[in-house]
Amino acid sequence: MKTKALYSGSFDPLTMGHMNIIERAAKLYDELTVGVIDNPQKKTMFMPDERKSMIRETLIGLDNVKVYHFSGLLADFVNEGGYNVVVRGLRGTTDFDYEIQMAQMNARLFQEKVETVFLMTDPRYSFISSTMVKEVFSLGGDITGLVPDVILRKMSK
Ligand code: COA
Repeated sequence: MKTKALYSGSFDPLTMGHMNIIERAAKLYDELTVGVIDNPQKKTMFMPDERKSMIRETLIGLDNVKVYHFSGLLADFVNEGGYNVVVRGLRGTTDFDYEIQMAQMNARLFQEKVETVFLMTDPRYSFISSTMVKEVFSLGGDITGLVPDVILRKMSK
């Protein structure tokens, strides 16, 4: 059976931590979708369409990876898209409590058997968050190596 995996998030912006999870998940599954959430309640630096196209540009060369954006319930997107796996990155124990709750709630909402699979973040990136990257950048700090070069160029514009 072909495995279709989904890795979703705000990606505002995509960081090297996210990239690491994407590259590893792309090797594990036949097809990986990066699902960019469009959550009007969250104030973002980039619009969902911008995030989607920036991520597409960053991921050129990863042939089994697609990028879409979606709104509403993640479980609806999973059910409609026929995904078998939801991938999440775990940076540490603080992520774990929130992630287990979300995975268990989603499990109730999935129509077919879908596994949430956690990949441990590479320790080189475990301190990174999109909010911190934006804060350091907006105050003039150097974020080279924390976000992919394509993203850094877009942020600098
Ligand atoms: N490396 C670096 N940073 C990481 C990371 C990694 N491997 N994994 C997570 N992060 C960071 C992100 O950068 C982000 O940082 P920020 O808060 O500073 O912006 C933070 O973790 C949170 O991630 P984010 O992707 O923004 O949101 P989320 O963890 O809340 O989950 C969805 C996103 C799409 C999975 C979730 O919001 C969702 O399911 N939404 C749909 C609505 C729904 O179904 N709700 C019911 C859920 S049970």
